[in-house]
Amino acid sequence: MAPNTTAITNIGSLVTNDPSLPGTGPLGVIQDAAVVIDGDRIAWVGPTSKAPATDNAVDAEGRAALPGFVDSHSHLVFAGDRTEEFNARMSGRSYSAGGIRTTVAATRAATDAELEANLRRHLDEALRQGTTTLETKSGYGLSVHDEARALRIAAAHTDEVTYLGAHVVAPEFADDPDGYVALVTGEMLDACAPHARWVDVFCERGAFDGDQARTVLEAGIAKGLHARVHANQLGHGPGVRLAVELGAASADHCTHLTDADVDALASGDTVATLLPGAEFSTRAPWPDARRLLDAGVTVALSTDCNPGSSFTSSVPFCVALAVRDMGMTPDEAVWAATAGGAAALRRTDVGRVTPGARADLLLLDAPSHVHLAYRPGVPLVSAVWRRGVREV
Ligand code: NIG
Ligand code: FE
Repeated sequence: MAPNTTAITNIGSLVTNDPSLPGTGPLGVIQDAAVVIDGDRIAWVGPTSKAPATDNAVDAEGRAALPGFVDSHSHLVFAGDRTEEFNARMSGRSYSAGGIRTTVAATRAATDAELEANLRRHLDEALRQGTTTLETKSGYGLSVHDEARALRIAAAHTDEVTYLGAHVVAPEFADDPDGYVALVTGEMLDACAPHARWVDVFCERGAFDGDQARTVLEAGIAKGLHARVHANQLGHGPGVRLAVELGAASADHCTHLTDADVDALASGDTVATLLPGAEFSTRAPWPDARRLLDAGVTVALSTDCNPGSSFTSSVPFCVALAVRDMGMTPDEAVWAATAGGAAALRRTDVGRVTPGARADLLLLDAPSHVHLAYRPGVPLVSAVWRRGVREV
């Protein structure tokens, strides 16, 4: 093969997420595997004994490999933290959307350089834990200027950028929520759409109701953005069904679902993205992944990393929670954190280790991916390639 090729050989157990491989299950697991990277792409996958000659070689010494994690939901353009709020919650106070305004004040007061440095710090932290694709969003600016700058800063670091001007009603519009929706769907959208791929809305009591959420999403779609929705996190509501009706790529949280919500998800191609870091950090009931999977819904797992409701950048932590408390098997959780995240972003080039896919993969200091749940809290990610470059 041409120079610039690297073979990773002697992989004890490789998750490919290629269901077409005979006899390998939904994760397409191959034993004694090798992967050849050519530039930023996967060029070849197969048994080590058949690996072609390459320029460089890495011996995995029996360790497990899997696709880089696809974290399809985070909120990383922010300043400050909410330690006090977390402390109070752990002493019995409950979580509400109102805490978002604390971070809005800190974010507005921060310089561009401060916001960017904070974003980079969290992206690096996520990368060290195996995240090679990461979506992030605005939502702590809530003014035309501050939302647009959040998206500009995010877009310098990831292709998966989401406009969330409709996170909560901006403090200046406390008495005029419809006026705020008009801003979000008018001047703010005009300033933000060029920097974003997605439009999102927090459809929840204390944030935006179903009619307002529909207005926000339809305006974003009319501007060429694709929809995703914060839905049914804190209670029952119209968010999930609205997401399916509008063809959103993902309904995120899905903690409080009626049978009609589950049926809607099962009938459409909207992914249910579960974010157990939020239930952990707010001491809320877990989303019922088993119920969704048994109904045939596609499930993704992501971190929701943000300073208020889920201040973790660790996908492995979320995998462990999902297995322990949400009825997922280790295989289902690993699929949801890789191929599931890719589906939630409507991507086919990430979340899999197959020829032609982006060369994003991890080695674990463990013999199999099951150890991600079996050994919770242990930093098992020992090597990370992103776009073919060894980053960790
Ligand atoms: O996804 N739910 C809305 N937004 C975030 C929380 C943001 C915050 O509390 O700062 C979430 O959990
Ligand atoms: Fe969120």
